[in-house]
Amino acid sequence: ALVSMRELLDHAAANGYGIPAFNVNNLEQVQAIMTAADEVGAPVILQASAGARKYAGEPFIKHLILAAAEMYPHIPLVMHQDHGTSPKICQGALDLGFGSVMMDGSLMEDGKTPASFEYNTEVTRKVVEMAHKIGATVEGELGCLGNLETGDAGEEDGVGAAGKLDHSQMLTDPEEAATFVKATQLDALAIAIGTSHGAYKFSRKPTGDILAISRVKEIHARIPNTHLVMHGSSSVPQDLLDIINQYGGQMKQTYGVPVSEIQEAIKHGVRKINIDTDIRMAMTGAVRKFMAENPEKFDAREWLKPAREAAKQVAKQRYMEFGCEGQG
Ligand code: G3H
Ligand code: 13P
Ligand code: ZN
Repeated sequence: ALVSMRELLDHAAANGYGIPAFNVNNLEQVQAIMTAADEVGAPVILQASAGARKYAGEPFIKHLILAAAEMYPHIPLVMHQDHGTSPKICQGALDLGFGSVMMDGSLMEDGKTPASFEYNTEVTRKVVEMAHKIGATVEGELGCLGNLETGDAGEEDGVGAAGKLDHSQMLTDPEEAATFVKATQLDALAIAIGTSHGAYKFSRKPTGDILAISRVKEIHARIPNTHLVMHGSSSVPQDLLDIINQYGGQMKQTYGVPVSEIQEAIKHGVRKINIDTDIRMAMTGAVRKFMAENPEKFDAREWLKPAREAAKQVAKQRYMEFGCEGQG
């Protein structure tokens, strides 16, 4: 059944676990995540990006998620809007029935230009006012996602700052975070600690200087009652990269956020962990393999099935690794 994001995150905080929030665009991804959650007894956050709503159409995204709720009434499920770029877009999602929205005021409405602290506070406060009136939850973001060595936002999927960011923009300041939370009254805060969206996060296995888990601890110590959110948290597993490239893909060598680092962050207040890229890679690898091994097949269901199965395996792994087993 559809539940409140706030309640889900409160439960995760009280019980010391984190919840992966998966981006969904189509039927097979929704099915994959629901069957994974069902098998391990996990709560579910399904989130739709602007790109997802454009790809599928808002009614389809909404009804895919409602269908999931109908088919799995025993699973607590949140329908969340990812990266809303304006109060107007967030209002649209709330009108559609989303129980939770992200107002990403770290960037201006174009989703590219870093915004001022004042602008961010103003738009986020506005969305909190709208959402809380109807019992919906709000996630905000302070700091810009980006690679601490290069200043790149990793915006190959179209979500992230354009141009080079400077080091301080890419690390959320604990003191500013406290001011921001107080001024906006938001429910959950996405923080910048060196991750970025997409597959090309790090050019080497991340160490503390480029993936600042220490910053999570500092922020949590300052605002212990605020649920923290990690974006750009795909692990970009090497075995998925290998399958893609083994069957004709041409992905460059790259590194994601190690699961062990996310587990450390969960010990320090991170409750929602956004994952899109790992699901994309799992499905792409499975389809490439199937196509290479079955050149005579042409029924879309036949290649969507292994893709769905591969996505399910990733989701199930993350549910277990983040401590969701039996919490749903
Ligand atoms: O927010 C980041 C997600 O990876 C969304 O990507 O806009 O291509 O759906 P998308
Ligand atoms: P990844 O690209 O690491 O999967 O991150 C997704 C995300 O943060 C969506 O908001
Ligand atoms: Zn994100």
